[in-house]
Amino acid sequence: MKITKICCIGAGYVGGPTMAVIAQKCPQIQVTVVDLNEERIAAWNDENIDNIPIYEPGLDKIVAEARGRNLYFSTDVEKAIDEAQIIFISVNTPTKTYGKGKGMAADLKYIELCARQIARISKDNKIVVEKSTLPVRTAEAIKSILDNTGNGVQFQILSNPEFLAEGTAVQDLLNPDRILIGGDPSAEGQKAIQALVDVYSNWVPADKILTTNVWSSELSKLTANAFLAQRISSINAMSELCEKTGADVNEVARAIGMDSRIGSKFLKASVGFGGSCFQKDILNLVYIAKSYGLNEVADYWEQVIIMNDHQKRRFSNNIVQTLYNTVSDKKITFLGWAFKKDTNDTRESAAIYVADDLINEHAKIAVYDPKVSRKKVLSDLDYLETRAASTNATSILSFDSPYEACTGAHAVAVLTEWDEFVQYDWQKIYDSMQKPAFVFDGRNILDGPTLEEIGFVYQAIGS
Ligand code: UDX
Ligand code: UDX
Ligand code: ADP
Repeated sequence: MKITKICCIGAGYVGGPTMAVIAQKCPQIQVTVVDLNEERIAAWNDENIDNIPIYEPGLDKIVAEARGRNLYFSTDVEKAIDEAQIIFISVNTPTKTYGKGKGMAADLKYIELCARQIARISKDNKIVVEKSTLPVRTAEAIKSILDNTGNGVQFQILSNPEFLAEGTAVQDLLNPDRILIGGDPSAEGQKAIQALVDVYSNWVPADKILTTNVWSSELSKLTANAFLAQRISSINAMSELCEKTGADVNEVARAIGMDSRIGSKFLKASVGFGGSCFQKDILNLVYIAKSYGLNEVADYWEQVIIMNDHQKRRFSNNIVQTLYNTVSDKKITFLGWAFKKDTNDTRESAAIYVADDLINEHAKIAVYDPKVSRKKVLSDLDYLETRAASTNATSILSFDSPYEACTGAHAVAVLTEWDEFVQYDWQKIYDSMQKPAFVFDGRNILDGPTLEEIGFVYQAIGS
């Protein structure tokens, strides 16, 4: 099948960058990204490229190059589905907040709506690609909806999980470690796989494109994220032990990372991992394992989440304890709110939970993040439903300059590892703060000895 038109449902952190790169690398294919959210689509189409809704280094250039040439953003979902030979589903799959599987299972509402819409609109055969992270066997559910339209249209369902990390999405898409495509073993399924392989082959070397059955592909995505998150919880567990024993977690990480069987990446102790994927995918894995009665498997992976929650709580508890057991009405400055640097995404960011704890202790939190607005900070806190929105609004102070944010503060807490935080004039910050001036470095990015020389009381994770 010659692919000339691709549609992607969902113009978010996954769909947007992925389709921009496909469009850039495949000028012969028309790529249309659709979303129900009009505001988001308008932002993608904004003439001022700085206003595209997702901040990712390098993304603006790619969008500027391809947009209007063969990359389109639209709210006309039906037309895009109707015209495309390949439809990617990149809608959000949050953890359920109600009913059976609440707090654990993925909410497939948006996926099912997409499948039903595709079933209703399609007049010719199509390849439907799951791009969102989904529980194993979701493809089956999609297939059962699509196969029962009764109008003779044939669908092939492929699983093509996304491995991009936010903040490096463009680089990850341009030079992926691998592309994984799962499909049906039948001849028709293999043809569909080949059609998608041909798209990626425009820029990805053949030996990096893996094909499997659908279930292996779906489960590989959950497994990859579970392993990655597990490394962080493992090093974070050691960080607490380091603090008690006088070892330094950075030294430990370095020492173990040189073992090629372990590897040096993803061993940074931190205030806890965040992001839309890790927690959701592990909860999902735990839920699936439990549903098959595999309690030991479920408990094993659940521990990764328990450790992560503990790490976040430990960080906020330590701030309260160190500030003489009370932060009531004290100004505590958060440098960073995003779940990692180089993104404006805040989903599941540790900062949200640390702030929530400290607001319970009646602290005033001054937030400065180079890419996150006050509106987003407040909506993240309100989403937790811990207290009235009006209380959140009076507890969060927002500043456009980091120096103003730090002025008069009792403590500065680093929640995100933005490069610029390291470059700040820390003497100036010290001079403007209450004394003793505390720094809680939740990312181990600042130079402790230098800060101590200035006069700060400096505390890092795991030393
Ligand atoms: C992750 C996976 O890396 C990616 O392959 C998948 O497609 C989606 O989920 P993402 O959540 O965007 O990507 O970012 P990632 O770099 O994995 O970071 C996740 C969280 O872990 C962040 O909060 C980060 O700060 C934290 N982290 C990461 C650490 O605390 N220590 C580390 O060593 C690495
Ligand atoms: C281990 C460490 O590897 C070594 O660095 C340390 O100094 C001593 O402990 P050893 O126990 O000799 O070495 O062997 P190792 O190769 O690590 O295997 C340990 C066990 O794990 C074996 O039973 C092995 O069969 C099993 N294993 C290993 C697996 O089941 N799967 C694997 O992928 C690797
Ligand atoms: P991700 O990180 O998975 O990309 P996002 O929340 O950033 O998640 O993006 C998902 C997008 O999918 C949102 O912009 C949402 O509006 C869109 N979406 C959800 N359901 C549908 C649907 N049925 N049709 C079109 N767009 C949808």
